[in-house]
Amino acid sequence: MSKLIVITGITGVQGSSVADTYLQSPDWRIRGVSRNLSSAAALEWTSKGVEMVKGDLDDIESLKRAFSDADVIFGVTDFWTIFMDPKSQEKKRPDQQILQYCYETELQQAKTLADAAASVPGLSRFIFSSMADANKWSKGKFQQLYHMDSKAQAVYYMQSLPGLRGKFSQVQAPIYFQLPLLWGLPITPKKQDDGTYRMKSIGPGNKRIPFGFVRKDFGPCVKAAAEAEPNLNLFAIGQYLTWEEYLQTWCKSQGVPYGGYDELSYDGLCEVLPGGLGHEFAQNVLFAWEFGYDGSDPSVVLPDKFGLKMTPFEEYCKVTDFKSIL
Ligand SMILES: NC(=O)c1ccc[n+]([C@@H]2O[C@H](COP(=O)([O-])OP(=O)(O)OC[C@H]3O[C@@H](n4cnc5c(N)ncnc54)[C@H](OP(=O)(O)O)[C@@H]3O)[C@@H](O)[C@H]2O)c1
Repeated sequence: MSKLIVITGITGVQGSSVADTYLQSPDWRIRGVSRNLSSAAALEWTSKGVEMVKGDLDDIESLKRAFSDADVIFGVTDFWTIFMDPKSQEKKRPDQQILQYCYETELQQAKTLADAAASVPGLSRFIFSSMADANKWSKGKFQQLYHMDSKAQAVYYMQSLPGLRGKFSQVQAPIYFQLPLLWGLPITPKKQDDGTYRMKSIGPGNKRIPFGFVRKDFGPCVKAAAEAEPNLNLFAIGQYLTWEEYLQTWCKSQGVPYGGYDELSYDGLCEVLPGGLGHEFAQNVLFAWEFGYDGSDPSVVLPDKFGLKMTPFEEYCKVTDFKSIL
């Protein structure tokens, strides 16, 4: 009989990648979880033969129902859905910073996810999309990297749950190749009057940052983790690139002239990405430069351990439509 993987976040980048991977595996059935079964993304999965069920990370009973009979569960929480939700401003305590509220809410959602997974009797593996413990690995230098801390604290909770003992592994996503290009941010490369493309972002243009084609390559990493021994900590790194290499590669792929890179300070990035977004992104990159994106955690393994071929940025650029910014 076929096995069952239940995928949270299936309408998003990471969950879609996991679903695509398992759709190619005839031994597996897929159940996808979404808050809205009539969204275009949810309906598309239904049309591909995925069983779509309603579930909310704020509602443990909905998750328990969604997870019933699962052999494998993929869990992802989304800090940015909470951050972008206008209701979060009303829900947070009056004296609370929005980033603190998002941290607490994402951490609670991850605990709810874990509690629901731990209640599934026949579960063989729960794979959580995690990030490094920046506070720990920086020895307290980076204490307010909220979107990382929430996931790192969630991992400690998951590792402590008796119901997940021998069943838990984590996969860390790198910075998405698409983030500076397709998210409509002020750091997106911009056409100049002379026809060249320039971009600005945090820090110097010649320091390496870990990126990846998460939409394509994250799923195979999750599947490898599900098939490996438990307690795996896999960093799904695709390719290290400096900002200058990033922009040069993109310009070359699109046949447009490279115009150069402008370095922003932490304050400069917070100015162009206000409200906390600049803080989180800048700190993420600054932490990665100083301590390693994965914190240089000795337990971390890389995709090549499983023979996984990760997509280079050049390939990503060839297969991606950039009409919106060209
Ligand atoms: N962007 C990067 O470079 C990067 C790098 C490393 C890690 N990350 C982390 O990746 C996470 C986001 O993953 P993603 O990019 O795959 O997300 P995404 O594409 O933005 O999609 C968000 C997903 O989360 C689901 N979701 C949100 N709130 C939910 C809730 N209350 N209950 C159930 N499902 C909920 C949504 O499902 P429905 O709307 O269908 O319910 C959707 O499938 C973030 O936490 C971020 O910190 C991002």
